[in-house]
Amino acid sequence: MGAAIAAKELAKRRHQLLDLIGADGIAILSTAPERVRSRDTHYAYRPDSDFHYLTGFSEPESVAVLTPGGKHGEFVVFCRERNKERELWDGARSGPNGVISDFGADDAYPITDIDDILPGMLERSERVYYSMGVSPDFDHRLLGWINDLNANRQRGHAPSEIVALDHLLHEMRLYKSRSEVSVMRRSAQIAMTAHRRAMQACRPGMYEYELEAEYMYEFRRNDAQPSYLPIVAGGANACVLHYIDNSEALRDGDLVLVDAGCEYNMYASDITRTFPVNGEFSEPQRDLYEVVLAANKMATEAVRAGNHWNDPHDVAVKEVTRGLRELGILTGRLPALIRDGSYRPFFMHRTSHWLGSDVHDVGDYRIDETWRLLEPGMALTIEPGIYIQPRARGVAKHWRGIGIRIEDDVVVTRKEPNVLTKQLPSTVADIESLMSHSS
Ligand code: GLY
Ligand code: MN
Ligand code: MN
Repeated sequence: MGAAIAAKELAKRRHQLLDLIGADGIAILSTAPERVRSRDTHYAYRPDSDFHYLTGFSEPESVAVLTPGGKHGEFVVFCRERNKERELWDGARSGPNGVISDFGADDAYPITDIDDILPGMLERSERVYYSMGVSPDFDHRLLGWINDLNANRQRGHAPSEIVALDHLLHEMRLYKSRSEVSVMRRSAQIAMTAHRRAMQACRPGMYEYELEAEYMYEFRRNDAQPSYLPIVAGGANACVLHYIDNSEALRDGDLVLVDAGCEYNMYASDITRTFPVNGEFSEPQRDLYEVVLAANKMATEAVRAGNHWNDPHDVAVKEVTRGLRELGILTGRLPALIRDGSYRPFFMHRTSHWLGSDVHDVGDYRIDETWRLLEPGMALTIEPGIYIQPRARGVAKHWRGIGIRIEDDVVVTRKEPNVLTKQLPSTVADIESLMSHSS
């Protein structure tokens, strides 16, 4: 039932990269290691996004090699061998043959043979495309192979350059295809269902972790998992931007800010809604909320091909500053308040980041020191907020301890912004209506 990326599209990505690296290049990608949580328990395994983007393969201890016109084929994988005993304990493995038949590899070898085989592949290349610094262990091994080739030059030839693979690959990942947008839409749908469920389940006296459980339930029953640690922040906890304790009781009369998105088939959603614990906004809460909502809507309108990356942020800053001024929280002339950054104690983060396989997805924000232009297929969040610290000076008491953020996921198109999270209530009326029809 779920949207996924087809084998054909994975092959297309590999061909695109093969074209970019050229005849005498070789690209090498090692996937993520398994990570120990404590002693002999592990975190759930998550492959490296770059590796998975090109291979669709999810097993640890794997290395992918792409070489245009390579003797062993253009797409070669090293992976774990099949092993009856280990598969009995840990589950099925593809093994080299499975990677050839199911993942389109031209050839595949046991990962234990990499020392014998990969140097021979490097020998035929001038440039090694590789992301240095992601895995220090693998960096070390790769440099070892290249050094050995250099030391034995009379036997053969060594590549003369290591080139940053991330530049090429991250530029590719920045532009989402139709099928990627479909998976992202599914990811957003699951997260929206979770937010709706939480709004309806929310009650004064409930603990933040109980509300978090509503999200977890909805994610897991849809084959998804959190794409980052959920923030469930009642009252003034919302003024701590990365509050993840989620340990306190939700109080009658407070707002709760929930920043929770999921990862589905390796694509993330990232959604924030802020709603009243008891189902009704108080007047000051509503006043501030309307400012954030206006900033969110206007910034979303600025997500258009040809606009600068920073345009939505500039729009959000202007709206937030204008709103804070109208409410008397800031005083002075609007242009000066914006120029001087007077809004920053209340809106201290940026409005957007790229979104994709990673919640803070890859891709440059600037090109040659200037903000890049938005182009169709780019996906980003729009997430303005206002946070009035509990001890904010010079701010009337009734505003203090209120934190609000409204975050949506948006794809740039040739026309209107494609808001993947549009169906999730964000207006005061829609939120109050949904919460009054609670389960
Ligand atoms: N959830 C992290 C963020 O909004 O960027
Ligand atoms: Mn975000
Ligand atoms: Mn978020």
